[in-house]
Amino acid sequence: GKGEYDHYMRKEIDSQPTALANTIEGRIDGDDVVFENLPPGSFEEIETVQFVACGTSYHAAMYGGQQLREAGVRTEILRATEYGATSGPVDERTLVVAVTQSGETADTLDAVRRATDQGARSLAVTNVVGSTAAREADEAVYIRAGPEVGVAATKTYSSQSVTLALLTQRIAADVPDATPVADRAEMLESLTALPDHLETVLETSQAETLAREYLDSESYFFIGNGLGHSVALEGALKFKEITYEHAEGFSSGELKHGPLALVTEESPIFAVSTGSNDEKTKTNAIEARSRGAPIVAVGPENAPLADVTETQLSVPDTHPVWAGLLANVQLQLLSYHAAELRDRPIDKPRNLAKSVTVE
Ligand code: F6R
Repeated sequence: GKGEYDHYMRKEIDSQPTALANTIEGRIDGDDVVFENLPPGSFEEIETVQFVACGTSYHAAMYGGQQLREAGVRTEILRATEYGATSGPVDERTLVVAVTQSGETADTLDAVRRATDQGARSLAVTNVVGSTAAREADEAVYIRAGPEVGVAATKTYSSQSVTLALLTQRIAADVPDATPVADRAEMLESLTALPDHLETVLETSQAETLAREYLDSESYFFIGNGLGHSVALEGALKFKEITYEHAEGFSSGELKHGPLALVTEESPIFAVSTGSNDEKTKTNAIEARSRGAPIVAVGPENAPLADVTETQLSVPDTHPVWAGLLANVQLQLLSYHAAELRDRPIDKPRNLAKSVTVE
């Protein structure tokens, strides 16, 4: 049940330190990443990895996929809804990774079937043991976030992202010519501190104050670069789902290629920084500020964004690979409070279902 909480979504946001600790449990051994069913050598034959997913899971796939690409593995990140139209041929040296919380999303299952029909190997990254994706794929990796009741995905996004970051390191260790990140030991060490950092965000967040301050805005924009881009897209999706307000996420540099026409004093911009690739976010936030838009910097306090504005949703210092996930929790809280102040049915937004089993 919801216990003392008004909404499952809030309970699920608050449970992320525990959910993430479960996700990580037993999967880090010194500098090594361990997945029991995927021992070293499992990915030796793989040349290309395709991620397929929808909605929030697609944003987690972007987050993991960008890291795999950076490690030198040929990587494609595809919306499952576009798979039939845009994927191109695959073969047995392709690993298709289906990222699906429920394991029942029809568009995602269809994409995997199309790939495996051509001989691709498949791996499901899911929350639900025994789900269709888990049963149909050659292998399954569980994100172990625990059941999620709120329609808006929160803790499962965090657990998916961390699982995919770890899986990326496991794959990169096997694929010939790939290079796992240089500071892997440091990265994995900061991961073990992530549940505590999440706790700090939950205890200190000023998101409710900002949700109130910007209650009467026309539009809400979210920008970020690199890993921050996927966080910006996720922040906007969550905001529109539960508040019913106009929200959009962009890659920071794209703002000036069109969306800037929508930027006014009535459109706060939530600028996500991670401590890496933040320069474009800074210059574009300055540009938007000069058009009168309020800027909220979301990320580590020492990130360059801090000089652009006094308004911040700050997160503890950590490795840039994890900072975006902390920023995302600030954005989850922002959406939650913005929806609560509007009295929306937070756990069951209109027109949406938890599991979308039609194409
Ligand atoms: C957003 C949300 C949806 C799902 C999408 C995929 O909050 O919940 O966008 O992420 O429908 O669902 P799964 O992960 O079950 O395949």
